Amino acid sequence: MDPKLGRMVTSLLAYLLLLEGGMFSPSPPPSGLLERVFQFIDLHQNEFVQILKEWVAVESDSVQPVPHLRQELFRMMALAADKLRCLGASVDPVDTGFQQLPDGQTLPIPPIILAELGNDPKKPTVCFYGHLDVQPARQEDGWLTDPYTLTEVDGKLYGRGATDNKGPVLAWINAVSAFRALEEDLPVNIKFIIEGMEEAGSVALEELVRKEKDRFFSSVDYIVISDNLWINQGKPALTYGTRGNSYFRVEVKCRDQDFHSGTFGGILHEPMADLVALLGSLVDSSGHILIPGIYDQVAPLTEEERKMYKAIDLDLEEYRHSSHVKKFLFDTKEEILMHLWRYPSLSIHGIEGAFDEPGAKTVIPGRVIGKFSIRLVPHMNTSVVEKQVKQHLEHIFSKRNSSNQMTVSMTLGLQPWMANIKDNQYLAAKRAIKTVFGTEPDMTRDGSTIPIARIFQDIIQKSVMMLPLGAVDDGEHSQNEKINRWNYIEGSKLFAAFFLEMAKLRL
Ligand SMILES: *[C@@H]1O[C@H](CO)[C@@H](O)[C@H](O)[C@H]1NC(C)=O
Ligand SMILES: *[C@@H]1O[C@H](CO)[C@@H](O)[C@H](O)[C@H]1NC(C)=O
Repeated sequence: MDPKLGRMVTSLLAYLLLLEGGMFSPSPPPSGLLERVFQFIDLHQNEFVQILKEWVAVESDSVQPVPHLRQELFRMMALAADKLRCLGASVDPVDTGFQQLPDGQTLPIPPIILAELGNDPKKPTVCFYGHLDVQPARQEDGWLTDPYTLTEVDGKLYGRGATDNKGPVLAWINAVSAFRALEEDLPVNIKFIIEGMEEAGSVALEELVRKEKDRFFSSVDYIVISDNLWINQGKPALTYGTRGNSYFRVEVKCRDQDFHSGTFGGILHEPMADLVALLGSLVDSSGHILIPGIYDQVAPLTEEERKMYKAIDLDLEEYRHSSHVKKFLFDTKEEILMHLWRYPSLSIHGIEGAFDEPGAKTVIPGRVIGKFSIRLVPHMNTSVVEKQVKQHLEHIFSKRNSSNQMTVSMTLGLQPWMANIKDNQYLAAKRAIKTVFGTEPDMTRDGSTIPIARIFQDIIQKSVMMLPLGAVDDGEHSQNEKINRWNYIEGSKLFAAFFLEMAKLRL
């Protein structure tokens, strides 16, 4: 095609997409190399969508432990390894052994791909983490299209894994391939760590990261993860923290067998009454946690932080309405976001051993187990929280003079993660977002727990950043998961712009 015509098509396409997106202001046109990279990405966007289609077509479900799906997972990792080799990367698919299933069986773990492109000591080295396994999906679950056939409707690309996480992994690859195709030097050294067991708890990942700390990761300066979403539909986000989680189990036992309330009611310390009192002592009706000392380590709120919350775009009414909740505990956007992201919360999840069927059974359960967890924030510490929770429950229990036995254990302890947003890569990402989307990002955290960020930070001790590409309504893990074509293509440009900004900051 005549290059001039090519540019016209590109601008027309960009214009049409703009109309479609409609939520951002156009930025001044980038110059030189970046402009050519953007044009390349625009012109090849159908090819990029086609590769995503091929990847989505692989049912790489890591959650259901069945041999034929595990084979698909292996096939997925092989496809990705080939793709990276075609870009000229040196690729090392690392065998990490077998997954032990609860029923005693084992299944092979798909290889974790370590790949690298370039090792120029004058350039920064950026490592991208992604995963290519997906949650289970069947059309009967309520999908409008076949989950494993990427289907475009109104600019939305529907398919399992489209946004979580195949689309973002490919966006990074697309960005690299644009530089390659234009025969331009990559502005940064690039490494990839891509796994196939994320949805199954990243079996074997932490061990591999530890093992590779002084080899593969020794030259890594920055780690980027693109495995979360924006908090609205049109405005990009940059994520700098996630909450941790301490999960507790409190058992109250009289005996293993249940009782009849006609025969024993009135003469026993009932385990369920003890447990309900224990669970009832944890949190008050305004959401405040009642465990002494629990807020002592929570980082104090700074004025700078308060301003960041003010700047975030969130339509609280819409959020409340779409969640089908009559009233939240707080009335302002800032309070809501802070209580999701920077303050701890305690949730009561369930009671094992309770009578929970319909009907009226006059049972006194002999042994019950309560489950609750606390979402942790900086600078809380799982071992301190464990001590505080145990002390509190023992105190409440002792006041009841119960003859039952109480046992408390913390079954999961995951630390919160928070990055320094003054770090170079956050600066570079902000600039790249400004270039591609013409706006400042929402600076977000995630209220849930994504252990991988903290694992990278603790083991490799380098800056970790989450740079999401997908919109809030992408429906990861849900029926009709999608990524917008616009997010996928502009996201590919975002990574390209990010590489160039990283190189500039090194100078
Ligand atoms: C948590 O607290 C324990 C005990 O006070 C301490 O030994 C440990 O280093 C702390 N861990 C972190 C990650 O701060
Ligand atoms: C527990 O026992 C103590 C001392 O025997 C008594 O003072 C207290 O009232 C009792 N508490 C309950 C809840 O029965």
